Formats: sequence, C-alpha cells, structure tokens
Amino acid sequence: MAKRIGVLTGGGDTSALNATLEGVALKAEELGLELIGFMKGWEGLLKGGAYFTLNPDLIDENQGGTILKSSRTNLIGENKLDEAVENLRKLDIDGLIAIGGDDTLSVGAALSEMFPTASVVKTIDNDVGLNPPPGDSVDYSQMVNYFCPGFPTAAFRIVEAVRDLRTTAYSHDRVFFVETMGRDAGWLALSSVCGHADLIVIPEVPYEPDRLAAVIEQKYAEKGNVIVVVSEGIRNRKGELLTRSQEEIDAFGHTRPGGCSEIIAAAMKRRLSPEIPESSFRHLILAYLQRCGSPIPLDHDCSVRAGQLSVEAIAAGMVNHVVTIMRTSEGLQPQLLPSEKVIKRDKRGKIIPRSVDLRFYDAENYQASRAGLGYFRPIFGDLPMPFFQPQLDIQRI
Ligand code: F6P
Repeated sequence: MAKRIGVLTGGGDTSALNATLEGVALKAEELGLELIGFMKGWEGLLKGGAYFTLNPDLIDENQGGTILKSSRTNLIGENKLDEAVENLRKLDIDGLIAIGGDDTLSVGAALSEMFPTASVVKTIDNDVGLNPPPGDSVDYSQMVNYFCPGFPTAAFRIVEAVRDLRTTAYSHDRVFFVETMGRDAGWLALSSVCGHADLIVIPEVPYEPDRLAAVIEQKYAEKGNVIVVVSEGIRNRKGELLTRSQEEIDAFGHTRPGGCSEIIAAAMKRRLSPEIPESSFRHLILAYLQRCGSPIPLDHDCSVRAGQLSVEAIAAGMVNHVVTIMRTSEGLQPQLLPSEKVIKRDKRGKIIPRSVDLRFYDAENYQASRAGLGYFRPIFGDLPMPFFQPQLDIQRI
C-alpha cells in the first residue's frame, strides 16, 4: 500500500486545476497518505526541481490556475524519464498523479511503464478522449471523456463574452471576429453557439474565404451585425495554419497558433467592402481570459471528484489509468479507465487529439448542429434567450 504519493500539473493552466488538486489532497488525507506537490509540471521531478508537502488547507479550490504552477517540459523529448524515476525513488514516492492534457498524458503513459503513475485529464481544448461511435444517431454515453475538466469553464467564458458582445455589435453595426483557443480542435469555438454566435468556424473544416464572405454578407443584410467565432487552429485548403508566425514552436513541437481572427477580418474586409463599411470590421482575441478565474460549479465538482478518484487508483495499485468524465444516466461522472481506452496514437506513438465530431457541426451554415446542441445541454442547460433585436419602424429624412 502506498504511503507517500506525488502530484504535478502540466501544460496550460485551467480554472479547475486547484479543484482537482483539492480532491487529490482530501482523498490522500482521508487514506492517510502523505502528498508531495511537485512544482512546474515534469520539471519538478528533475535536478533542482522544487516540491513541498501539499495539504488541503493550502489550496483554494475556487481559484483558477494551479498552486503547483505548470510548464510544458517534455521528459521524453529531453530523454529525462530515467532521471525523473530516480528522483521519485530517492524521495520514497510510491505513486505519482499527473494532471494534464495530451502532452502530459503521453509522458505519463511512458513513465507508467517504469513507475506507478495515474493521470487526470484536464485541458480547455477538450481534445483528449474519443467521440461517440459513428452512425446516424449519436450515443453520448459512449463518448469517452465527455469533457476535459477545465473545458466547461473556458467554454462558459466564451459563451458570456459572445453574448455580451452582441449589444456593441448592434449599437455599431459591427462584424466581429472573436478568436477562441483550442489548438487543432474546434470544441471551444463550437461552444459559442450557446452565446448565440451567428457563424462558427472550426479547424476541422478547411477555411474557404469566399464562401465565408458570402455567408457573412447574407447575415449582415438580415441583421445589420454579425458575430463570427473563429477557432485559433483554422487552416486553409493547403493545410497551412492561419497564424501570426509559423516559426514559434513549443517543447512538444506544436506550431503556436494565434492571430487568425485578424487575418480573417482583413480578408473579409477586402472581399466585402463597400457592401459592408470597412469601419465595421473588428477582431477580438479572448486569449487567457478563457483559462483564468473561478471554475463554474459543474467543472469544480467533477474536478474535485476526479482528483479523489486518481488517489484511489494509486492506492489500489491501478497503474496507467486515466480519470475521465462520462455521461451516465446519473449525470456527468468521473470514471477510471485504462489509458489505452482513452487515447489513440498515430504510427509514431503520438497521441491523436480528439477533433469535433462532425455530426456536431453544420458546416454549410457555420453552426452547431442539433447533435452539437445536444452535446452542450448537460454542460450549460437550455440555451438562454438570444439578444432581443428590436423591430423598429424606421423612417428616412
Ligand atoms: O492547450 C491549452 C492552450 O490554452 C491552447 O488552447 C493554446 O493554444 C495554448 O494552450 C496556449 O499556450 P501558452 O499558454 O503557452 O500561450
């Protein structure tokens, strides 16, 4: 039976990480386990790495970010798995919990072959897990990892931002391009349907500027303002990322996305003026405002329970298991699964990110489909009323 366990958080932070850590700390305390928190993700396990005893009292579960801090250190790329295991043994750690997205999980899976390791999924990108089996009807209960902790809060921030932006879009007859995070997956952008985005552009479908321009023109003629939500990972027909810089690469080899809203706004302005005045076009990058602040209650509760479950897994000697969230008849519940049931890999062994299930997206109308709305219902409940567009009896001088 484990006596001393470790925990770390890797990758981009989320609003719900401290909630997961609180779950881990509470369960460790209940089971009489000493909990060591390693600072800055995998970096905390290497020479000079920082650690401390993590008690539940130290954690504010309703505060965003992570008390343990985070980094994108790649132990595999840097050939440092052996060093990490040696240090864990030196510190008498019996089991490790890694909380992170696909990059953290790929290191966690490799480490688990050498050391008892369990993982808890978290990422605002919602790209870890498997979509429901293919077919005409969507069985949401078969979706592996219904959402990644951190995603519901980030999605909620987007919903609120898009909903609130409508009043300015109306006052100034604007065409707004709102850029969400999400890397190669359009889940965050898709969530804006719940904030009544007019058009949603996701990376799963290649960007076609002429087609998008035609739909924007039509919407503008109907409503006098348009909100287009674009996902940062959008690519053109040649597969090229619409980004500010192709050169910026992170520790896991990802090209850094960002800036597509500006590129698309400029392209649409060129195509659509003078039908739509040039001064109407604006872009807005939501950036880190999606990742910070307190978790929404659903995210908080699932994250605390996910943390608790990961400690139970380590205490029961279940190695290489991942805590996921499943949609069950009793609601959204954390569940432990062997990692090979949660992630798929390509030929080089790299985890394949989960894309938006194309049944959730109506590509022709740039909107979430009925099945997409059905996906968001247990996360946000029924859709709030859209902005009330007044019908005015306008006279001209
Ligand atoms: O993976 C989470 C995420 O927020 C992505 O959506 C985004 O592209 C990236 O991290 C931003 O990374 P950084 O925090 O390094 O700017």
